[in-house]
Amino acid sequence: MKERRDWNQMRDSIIGLGEESSRRTYYPELLARVTQLEAAQESLRQSEANLRVLFNSLHDAVIVHDFEGRVLEVNDAMLAMYGVDQKSCRTYNLMDYSAPSVGDQGLEAKFHEIWSTLRSEGHALFRWKARRPLSPGLDFDVEVSLRQAFWFGQEAVVAVVRDISERLRLEAMLHQAQKLDSLGQLAGGVAHDTNNMLGVIIGYTDLLLEDAPAATPLANDLEQIRKAALHSADLTRQLLAFARKQPINPQVVDLNVLVESTHKMLRRLIGEQHALVWKPSTTLWSVWIDPSQVDQIVTNLAVNARDALGSGGTITLETANVQVDETYAHQHPDAKPGDYVVLTVTDDGHGMTPEVQARIFDPFFTTKGLGRGTGLGLATVYGIVRQNEGFISVYSALGEGTTFRIHLPKHLGENPGAQEAEVALKGGKETLLLVEDEEALLELAQRILEGAGYRVMSSSRPIEALHLMETNSEPIALLVTDLIMPGLNGSELYQRIHASRPEVRPLFLSGYPADTITLQELSEKRAGFLQKPFTRPALLAKVREILDA
Ligand SMILES: Nc1ncnc2c1ncn2[C@@H]1O[C@H](COP(=O)(O)OP(=O)(O)OP(=O)(O)O)[C@@H](O)[C@H]1O
Ligand SMILES: [Mg+2]
Repeated sequence: MKERRDWNQMRDSIIGLGEESSRRTYYPELLARVTQLEAAQESLRQSEANLRVLFNSLHDAVIVHDFEGRVLEVNDAMLAMYGVDQKSCRTYNLMDYSAPSVGDQGLEAKFHEIWSTLRSEGHALFRWKARRPLSPGLDFDVEVSLRQAFWFGQEAVVAVVRDISERLRLEAMLHQAQKLDSLGQLAGGVAHDTNNMLGVIIGYTDLLLEDAPAATPLANDLEQIRKAALHSADLTRQLLAFARKQPINPQVVDLNVLVESTHKMLRRLIGEQHALVWKPSTTLWSVWIDPSQVDQIVTNLAVNARDALGSGGTITLETANVQVDETYAHQHPDAKPGDYVVLTVTDDGHGMTPEVQARIFDPFFTTKGLGRGTGLGLATVYGIVRQNEGFISVYSALGEGTTFRIHLPKHLGENPGAQEAEVALKGGKETLLLVEDEEALLELAQRILEGAGYRVMSSSRPIEALHLMETNSEPIALLVTDLIMPGLNGSELYQRIHASRPEVRPLFLSGYPADTITLQELSEKRAGFLQKPFTRPALLAKVREILDA
């Protein structure tokens, strides 16, 4: 407004000058010039305002500074990112905006090195630790892009600063998840093969035990072999759990009831010198999980908590309903938004350093002495929780205790067939079709089934089994098949058989079901599932259970 008044005054004074005649000559021309200048200045003002809007809408911080680190101009994002205001931002030097990880002395040298690169190359890009001058504890990671420029005729540097702390955190978490996935595949593969062989050992021992006179040294020795094999099977079960390939038998459960039922066992496990506090939520959604997996989770977390306590600590178990929103899920790559039942296990023990915390889910990672920990506890918990589409969060600091939160998805649907009670051990006269590609296991299962009176048609190859069935008109009551086989898998084999003989029901055997068959498929097919390695009683009970259903 003021400028416009100045222009008008100037115009009037120009017009006031000179002869009447020359006034007539020059006046229109001058007037036109002045109007032109006025318009140009107005458009410049507009353009400046527009550029400022752009400058301040940038998400990245922009700092224009000179080669001494003096701040010349900043945008709004810079003020927000560094926690300063327009007035105070210039009172700090660029060094005040940097975390002195190399010492203040080194920092200055570092700046001069960067600036000389900038002078020779014209630009530079690097990662840096930034600090907020008013809250130096809250350093953050940034990516800085520098360009040489002129600012009001003076040599200057334009720094574009991007906060990448969130990106780095997510990258680290993704890396951890990928590492655990590949370890899981390896562990799962080893455990699967070991499982098959253990199955053979347990099965033949069962058969020998049948024939061995009771309470003789022979029976006793066989019992020892059986025990050792079952113990090894427990270990492979842990590895399969970590690899998320543990055969499971999920049901609709109330976590309060399950945790409550482990209370007595936990009490004994934890010992008299520590307090055990149990805070069940008054209302709790149900979850869809194998109850034995809940036992595994609770036991592993409670034992870890006990090991972290000195003398006379407290372990608290708690349940709650929790809604996970988009924002939370965004910060935890494992988490999906939705409703969860959360089991929290807290201890006031020695806690963990960030370095230990970064590795706790790795199989075989342990800080406990030789023979005290195998490092499979949390790996197992991790596998179980992921298998059930949940996630874990951990809060811990050295000397501050530890909190594990296990999130399990709220159960939405109906219960598709809870498990019936144990079926008495009985044989039968029906004809069964048995398919298993592992010859030793095939032979074993055949002996067990024939020993119980069944007629068994068997083959180690699915295609051959189909042929057997086609050339034989005898009614078949049950297909007992391995799930994972080369060529045709167990589920596909059943599909083919089902097409011509819909009355045949399937019993799937596997060390890991999750890859080829879903739990829903199992319930749709009214199929049975038996986990390998199985014992003789377990196989006979399962067969009878399906035949009688
Ligand atoms: N509540 C806790 N407090 C402090 N550290 C813990 C806690 N839980 C786990 N840790 C750390 O995580 C490591 C791994 O735990 P994990 O349960 O997987 O194995 P472990 O307890 O050492 O052995 P295992 O459970 O196989 O007997 C532990 O050795 C310990 O250092
Ligand atoms: Mg443990």
